[in-house]
Formats: sequence, C-alpha cells, structure tokens
Amino acid sequence: MAESKKSEAPALNRHLSEEHERLGRAVTKIIGDYVRELDELPVTSDATPGELEKLFDEPLPANGISADEILARFEREIAPNAMQIPSPRYYGLFNPTPLPIAVWADALASVINQNGAAWRNSPSASIVEARVLRWLCQLVGYGQESFGTLTSGGSEANLIGLKCARDNAQRDVRDHGVRAATGDMVVYASEQCHYSLIKSVDILGLGRFGLRKIETDERFHIRTDLLREAIASDKEAGKIPCCIAGAAGATSTGIVDPLEELAEIAGETSCWFHVDAAYGGALALSEKHKHLLLGIERADSITFDPHKWMFVPFACGAVLVRGGGRVLRDAFDITPEYLSEERGGEDVEYDFFRYGQLGTRRFNALKIWMALKFMGTRGYAEVIERQIELANYLAACIDNLKDFERVGEVETAVCCFRFLPLEVRRLDDATQDSIQKKLQQRVERSREAWISTTVLKSRRALRVNINSFLTERRHIDNLVELLKRESRRLVEEGK
Ligand SMILES: Cc1ncc(COP(=O)(O)O)c(C=O)c1O
Repeated sequence: MAESKKSEAPALNRHLSEEHERLGRAVTKIIGDYVRELDELPVTSDATPGELEKLFDEPLPANGISADEILARFEREIAPNAMQIPSPRYYGLFNPTPLPIAVWADALASVINQNGAAWRNSPSASIVEARVLRWLCQLVGYGQESFGTLTSGGSEANLIGLKCARDNAQRDVRDHGVRAATGDMVVYASEQCHYSLIKSVDILGLGRFGLRKIETDERFHIRTDLLREAIASDKEAGKIPCCIAGAAGATSTGIVDPLEELAEIAGETSCWFHVDAAYGGALALSEKHKHLLLGIERADSITFDPHKWMFVPFACGAVLVRGGGRVLRDAFDITPEYLSEERGGEDVEYDFFRYGQLGTRRFNALKIWMALKFMGTRGYAEVIERQIELANYLAACIDNLKDFERVGEVETAVCCFRFLPLEVRRLDDATQDSIQKKLQQRVERSREAWISTTVLKSRRALRVNINSFLTERRHIDNLVELLKRESRRLVEEGK
C-alpha cells in the first residue's frame, strides 16, 4: 500500500491532548492484540537481514505521513519480524516478558520526560530513584549508608563497580591515569564471567589481560583454591590484586559462586569484592531461595538488573554500593558550571550525574517503583519460585530422555544439556559440538520455541532459561517434544 503524502508539517502545538488520547487508544489496541496472540505467535522471524533491509530501504522522509500509517507498519512489518521475547516459549538470554505496569510506566516516564541527571530537572523522579535504590539495597541485605545508581544494564553496572574497585586500589589513577599506578592491577572472576567484565577492564585502562579468569569446578562455580593461588602468585610478581568479581546467576548456567568464601578471600587480600548479580539478584525476593545469595551483603558493590528477573522492559540495570554515594562520588563526581553545587543543600545528594558516567538519564526508576508496588516482594517470590520449579521440571524431563545428558545443575531457572545419543558419542568433540548447534538451529527454524547454546568447559551445550511469567508446564512439555522430534530428524538426515 502506497503511503499518503502530507504537504504540511504536523501541527504539534495544537490538539496535543487529543493526539495523545487518539494514539493511546490505537497503541493500546495494538498491544492488546499482540499479547493476546503471544502463545501462538511463531517465536522467531524467518526473515533474512537482506529481506528486512529491503523492507526498510526507503528515503529519508521529507513529508510526514499520518500516525495511523506508521502504526500500521509497526503491526505489519516490525512486530511480526521481531524475536518474540515476551513469548512463553522464548527460553533465551535472561530477557523477560515485561509486566504490563512496567510497560506503561515507560510511556508515563516518556511523557513527563524527566532528565534524571540533576535533581533540579527531575525532582520527584530523583527521589523515586533514590527510594528504589534503597529498596534494592535493603533486599540484598545492605545497611543504611549504602546507595547506588540506576544504569542502562548490567554491563554499565559492572563497569561502575570495577571503576570503584580500581580507584579504591590506586587513588591517583582517577586523576593521573594508570601510569600513576604502582603496578599492574588485576581483577579476578570465574571463566564463566560475563563478557562485560572483559570490556570493563579494557575501558578502565587495565587491559583485557588485567582480568584473570579462574577455572570452575564441575558444577561451574569458581574454584577458590585456584583463586587464592592466582592472587598469591600475582602479588609475588609485583602486581596489584584489586578486585574479586563473583557471579550470582552466571550467564551460561545461572549458578551462584560461593559468595561467603569470596568475601572472606577479598577481606584477606584487601581486594574490592564485586558481585555480578545482574540476573540472580532477584533471588533476594524469595524467602525460599535467598539463602543462595548468602555473603552478597559483604560485597563492596553489586550489579542487579531489574530488566532481567524483575520483568521490567529494557533498559534498566542498577549498581549498588555498600559504602554508599560517597564511594560513587569519589569515582565520578564533577561540578560543571551550569550545574553548580552552590545551590547547595540536600538536593545535590540527588544529582545522579555525580554517581555514574551518564549525563541525561531516563526516568527508569518509575517502572521499577511501579512494578515493585504492583507485585510486592511476595508476588515476585511466587513467580521466581515457579520458574525455578519449571527449570527443575525440565531437568527431570531431560534426565528421562536416554539421548540427552544434562550439564551441571539447576540452581536458578537455567538448565543446560547436550544431545548425545550413542551414534553422536562416537564422534569427535568438534562434531559433537556442531550437532548441538545444529539442533539449536532446528529448534529456531521450527519457530515453536527459542533456546540458545553456550560453551561449558570448552564444549558446546544447549541452554534453556525460563524467564517468562507466562511459561507453564505445558510449554515445557511442548519443548521436550520439540527437542525429541528435531533431534530424531537430525539423526535421520545425517544417515
Ligand atoms: C551475569 C550477567 N552480567 C551482566 C550482564 C550484562 O547485562 P546487560 O546486557 O544488561 O548489559 C549479563 C547479561 O546477560 C549477565 O548475564
């Protein structure tokens, strides 16, 4: 259908309220229709990048078109060619189905468009952000003095945590650069750590080799004996062990490192203790599972992403710091001429540009605030516990399949396994690995579900994460049937 041309620029200054109401009704209808279909919708798009390029290969618009035509294109071309992340059959990468209240909170945040850099430009928003951060601090067991800042996600939160660690180890580096350091600084994390830690040490001037990856045990927890050895030998070589980063909900396996022991080692070796709880932080919401996080309250800084297991839409992460705003301000504070501190008083405390690297900041706190008020910790606990149960149910189903073998254990809502029938076991490692990838691709092409693969101890495995509050047992049963069907076909075609 050809798009109509309007010869005039849209009259933005008239009828703003009517335009919002009209668009709101239209968008509400699109959202309602979309989520109504979610259960049946193919989870993946089969379009190629080239096909999508063609769909959007259009000149820079000179004349605007009507909002209705634009929304029709969203419905026709964008939504159907999206990865259906909110689907109950999307078993992906800690990407949740967003809560309705949090989706609409985003719209409300957009309409008042607060700039959460300085309190003066976001009075209520900054206070709500501070409140949400104090709630998160309370959840992880931090004391009164703790504080934090919301971030774009876990990567930025990890960067901020590691920056605090670096500055804590070598005070002069912030102002004079790493040449002012008295030795090479080293950060320690397990071989299962998220790649954002590698990027972070690079950005902080420590170099990618400044991240020492420590081997894990057979259940993929960091080996603390090897960690102790690595720290001792680095010290002997004149390096400066500066930070231990534990995982609480590792990306590939969902496991939680032994946080108490890591806290102990950090104390003994004067290292900053950071916990990447981007995913697993939400375990603190469940009385039943929060024991997994024991020791997190001793961390100097914690990454905790509401856009993972708290079901708020992207992008919304957080970094929490036990020492509070003082530590973050030591690392980031600056006073530009146009945001003078001289207006003085308590408002400066709520200038979030002083606590991280972002200037203009979206009012992301609103969706966490609304989601927490709507769900309550009990509501969250119920969903989280159900998802862990479903992951265990899947694990039991996999254990009952003679051609599949589980890898590691289910600690959170992640289950890893491999397709290893007798005829595949006989093949070399590389071929076995490529068969896991082929099975993942077959599942993806079926469009009935999406799962990922990962590498564990150098071997490719299939990975399922249950992160939709819409997922039920019947979906897991369907997934198991799908795995059986596609794996059988894979073997038949290989013959
Ligand atoms: C354990 C962990 N840490 C950090 C991150 C990075 O978070 P983000 O993608 O929000 O930047 C992820 C992302 O999946 C993660 O799994």
